[in-house]
Amino acid sequence: MKIIGGPSSQALACRVAAGLNMKPTITDFIRFPDNEQYVQIKEDIAGEEVVLIQSTTTDSDFVALLQLLDACEAAEKIKVVIPYMGYARQDQKFKDGEAVSARAMAKAVTAKNLEKIYTINLHKRSTLDHFSHPAEDLDASKLIAEYAVSLNLERPLLVAPDKGVRDMVENMAAGLKLDWDVFDKTRLAGDKVVMADKKMDVEGRDVIIVDDMIATGGTMAEAVSILDKNGAHNVYVACVHPVLTRNAVLRLSNAGVKDIIATDTVEKIQSRISVAPIIVEALKK
Ligand code: R5P
Repeated sequence: MKIIGGPSSQALACRVAAGLNMKPTITDFIRFPDNEQYVQIKEDIAGEEVVLIQSTTTDSDFVALLQLLDACEAAEKIKVVIPYMGYARQDQKFKDGEAVSARAMAKAVTAKNLEKIYTINLHKRSTLDHFSHPAEDLDASKLIAEYAVSLNLERPLLVAPDKGVRDMVENMAAGLKLDWDVFDKTRLAGDKVVMADKKMDVEGRDVIIVDDMIATGGTMAEAVSILDKNGAHNVYVACVHPVLTRNAVLRLSNAGVKDIIATDTVEKIQSRISVAPIIVEALKK
């Protein structure tokens, strides 16, 4: 087996390789003078089983994934791991004339020797149906739950910022025997949301707000301000995918967040929980 990490998931690929007692395959990623990308796998992969790991956080990341897939044409079979799949939030037509971007992206991930695709905490699992190959969504929320327990929090409460992650947070809380609650969120614009003011039992308690992803930080900042008003002690924000775009980190700190807890599906300084164990487990199945 060969483990190939794309440019956006190099550290994660190394952790997956280590979990399988292997070394990652050396691959080159460069740009031509006109800024086009170029990839080259520096080892012979003919007849091998190849695992490609590449998050598609940016358009360039997506191009690199398609290039790597193409470069693996001589492999016997390919498994693709997309730890964070960009464009997955546009998973339906909200207005006439719109593209279903999640479908467009999923359809493009194809090759004759592609055996299986793994994603992690996709925005909606139904996006799996758009892939032309067998696909499975892995769940990293239990890793966040384990990390939360290690923080020894004061009468902790898990909070879902919206109904989209209600089930995920409820399951995490059940596994940990913790209390949980959920906010009611409405999105007004890409970086602006409103939440129905809700009285939660948070006086003097530590709270972890858990979401599948943090992008602009708008959702979390709004939730933190309500929890603060209700007298919460420390408020942590946790997510699987730390996209953390624009000034999200400043925004969250300014809102009074104690810490940002995240996994390495997107490789950021906040990614202190690795999803490598669940990928290794899936590959060994
Ligand atoms: C939306 O439904 C997602 O679960 C997240 O709540 C959202 O994408 C977070 O985005 P932002 O950080 O920009 O509010």
